[in-house]
Amino acid sequence: MSEQDTDMALAQSRGEQAIRIIVQEHQALWRILDLLDLLLSDMNVNEQRPDERLFVKIFDYIEHFSHRVHSTPTDIELYKRLGARSPETVPLLDKLSRGYRVGHERLQELRHLLAQCMTHWPEAREPFSHALARFTEALRKHIRKEEGVVIPRARKLLSEDDWAHIIESRDVENDPLFGERVREEFRELRHEIINCTPERFGGLGLTPSAPVQAPGAGEGMLVVQGLATAYGQIEVLHDIDLRINRGEIVSLVGANGAGKSTLLMTLSGLQPATRGRLTFEGRDLTRVPADQRVAEGIVQVPEGRQVFKDLSVHDNLLLGAYTRGRSQEVMDDLDRMYAKFPILRQKRHNLAGELSGGQQQMLAMGRALMARPRLLLLDEPSMGLAPLIIEEIFDIIRELKKEGITIFLVEQNASQALALADRGYVLETGRVVIEGTGRELLSNEKVREAYLGM
Ligand SMILES: Nc1ncnc2c1ncn2[C@@H]1O[C@H](COP(=O)(O)OP(=O)(O)O)[C@@H](O)[C@H]1O
Ligand SMILES: [Mg+2]
Repeated sequence: MSEQDTDMALAQSRGEQAIRIIVQEHQALWRILDLLDLLLSDMNVNEQRPDERLFVKIFDYIEHFSHRVHSTPTDIELYKRLGARSPETVPLLDKLSRGYRVGHERLQELRHLLAQCMTHWPEAREPFSHALARFTEALRKHIRKEEGVVIPRARKLLSEDDWAHIIESRDVENDPLFGERVREEFRELRHEIINCTPERFGGLGLTPSAPVQAPGAGEGMLVVQGLATAYGQIEVLHDIDLRINRGEIVSLVGANGAGKSTLLMTLSGLQPATRGRLTFEGRDLTRVPADQRVAEGIVQVPEGRQVFKDLSVHDNLLLGAYTRGRSQEVMDDLDRMYAKFPILRQKRHNLAGELSGGQQQMLAMGRALMARPRLLLLDEPSMGLAPLIIEEIFDIIRELKKEGITIFLVEQNASQALALADRGYVLETGRVVIEGTGRELLSNEKVREAYLGM
């Protein structure tokens, strides 16, 4: 690689890094909006007088955040650069910029109406609740537009030079997106909001989903005992004990490099175990090769999707059934896949490489389902996707569970993974350090600090 190429790769990866940070912050804000919705319905349904302290904290948070991101002259360098490259986006960008100014006025109005609730309850409820509903809706729309239009266009159109300028132009000291210290500060504020959120809201709107009973649920399906895995001389998984019961969604969370992918690959047989034992439905599979495990019903969707980019959507799906031959049954399954993922039917003749990230994730899941898994191993299905697409992927996972597929879900997106899970494990440098129900892990102080950023 020439020096220039190296610089370019570096700058591009800075662009991706910037986008990832923006998306993460959108998610955090989205959760605050979820919490506001819960508080709103609590106020309307139960005629609960709003908790003034909590609302003020939330309003402060939103205001402080948007002020920090968007008030300096260099604030919307991203908008400026994108506008220059894409004139057709300019009206939208103008509208979004106006949204920030209007948002500030709306917040002032909300503060006023909240104060009214304290002195004139219940008459003041309705104006406050209407204004609040309008506000959260507008903010959601704003995030959707940034996620759905601005970021994809920026990703496509901005050069490495643009990204370098966007990042450099920011006042990193005070920037809640790119300033390390300031991000800490905002994490602290979110923590405070949680501390004064009533228990029944589960904190930041993260209520565990109601358990869905699946056929044959509850029996031990996969049992792992004392499992170790090494790359060469370096052992990266040590003495792993875990159990997945039939019909469960079990989530595995842990920092980058903890060994999550290695664990999944050891379960699916792509990586040999150096010690320990793995039984599936009572059969010892420790030394059984990967393709045979697929036939037994253990199927993995790898990290980063890894679809075959130069093959059509259709052919990718068929490859998922390679252990099953090409029977009428496989063709019927293909039809079912298209019914489950209509977008894949629409794009069945497209090359997989032409699909968006979310569509590729669906394709990777569809391909795995073509093997008729009984235990599906998902490695970070939400990685790099926008919040709305993530919701969709998580909905699909919930559906699969209802259909009776047992799921082992690896996620860095710990909050959603644990909210969805029956049980979960936390992996730290190759060891299981915490286990419990999804609910227990969500309320575990250590998990909150380390993985939920709260
Ligand atoms: N193919 C490999 N060869 C050598 N070391 C690896 C390999 N893959 C992963 N590792 C190392 O193993 C550890 C666990 O990695 P991984 O399972 O990918 O973690 P996670 O999925 O939790 O991010 C890391 O220290 C990583 O550097
Ligand atoms: Mg991984």
